[in-house]
Amino acid sequence: MEKPQNIYDNTKFFEEYQKMRETKINANELIEIPEIKSMLPDLKDKKILDLGCGAGGMSRYFAENGAKRVLGVDISKNMINLAKKENNYKNVEFKVLEMERILKIKEKFDMVFSSLAFHYVEDFEKLMKDISNLLNPNGILIFSQEHPVATAIIYNGKEMEKHIDINGKRYYLLSDYNNNSKRVLNWNMQDTVKYHRNFSTIINSIIKNNMQILEVRESQPEKEAVKQVPKYKYQIDRPYFLYIKAKKL
Ligand SMILES: C[S@@+](CC[C@H](N)C(=O)[O-])C[C@H]1O[C@@H](n2cnc3c(N)ncnc32)[C@H](O)[C@@H]1O
Repeated sequence: MEKPQNIYDNTKFFEEYQKMRETKINANELIEIPEIKSMLPDLKDKKILDLGCGAGGMSRYFAENGAKRVLGVDISKNMINLAKKENNYKNVEFKVLEMERILKIKEKFDMVFSSLAFHYVEDFEKLMKDISNLLNPNGILIFSQEHPVATAIIYNGKEMEKHIDINGKRYYLLSDYNNNSKRVLNWNMQDTVKYHRNFSTIINSIIKNNMQILEVRESQPEKEAVKQVPKYKYQIDRPYFLYIKAKKL
């Protein structure tokens, strides 16, 4: 197993990422966050673990909406420092911890949540096993990740087109779909490591680890998002995010 990359502690990458997030005109704010919020169960009195919590926006949202305790963990010190700085809640705690080592956490949760972080983890099946161990019976797992149709292509280290436009219609390339492995792509001018797995691997890893899938969604930008960022029209028939909700049996 490779040591997980901690790209968000690379100063240049972090600055670029934060600039993008602060504009609020990005796919997180316009597409992903509204969708995943609409999948949440009642948060009142729940104990919640937020994996790859970043600057802690969702952890604070859980506290604002009645959660009893929230633990947000992230591999990045930059992110956890920011999350701590912006946190006013006594029942929300932030810790530097890799998702690969969550079994160090010695408490159980009613909900494990993660927004756009699981595609950074190499061993997805172990992650599902560890999450299942941390959930109370009937506890809920909700996560989003980059959609397998978006993570599939292997770029061979070169900038390549992801699509071909023919007569005004955009056709996306979908090679390497069944090759579950590492992908390295240039993002914010840095080589960023992510892991692609096909849909059946994701689904079966959840099922094998004693969780029942309750809901699956694939992102579709709302009209308003396309109005603000016209290129999101290309995501209407080619999802960029995958959302899954499951219950511990
Ligand atoms: C795209 S950001 C999302 C942050 C936050 N969930 C949000 O939606 O605003 C991905 C986050 O995952 C974290 N991350 C990446 N690999 C990780 C790992 N192996 N363990 C824990 N966190 C990780 C990054 O440091 C980063 O904060």
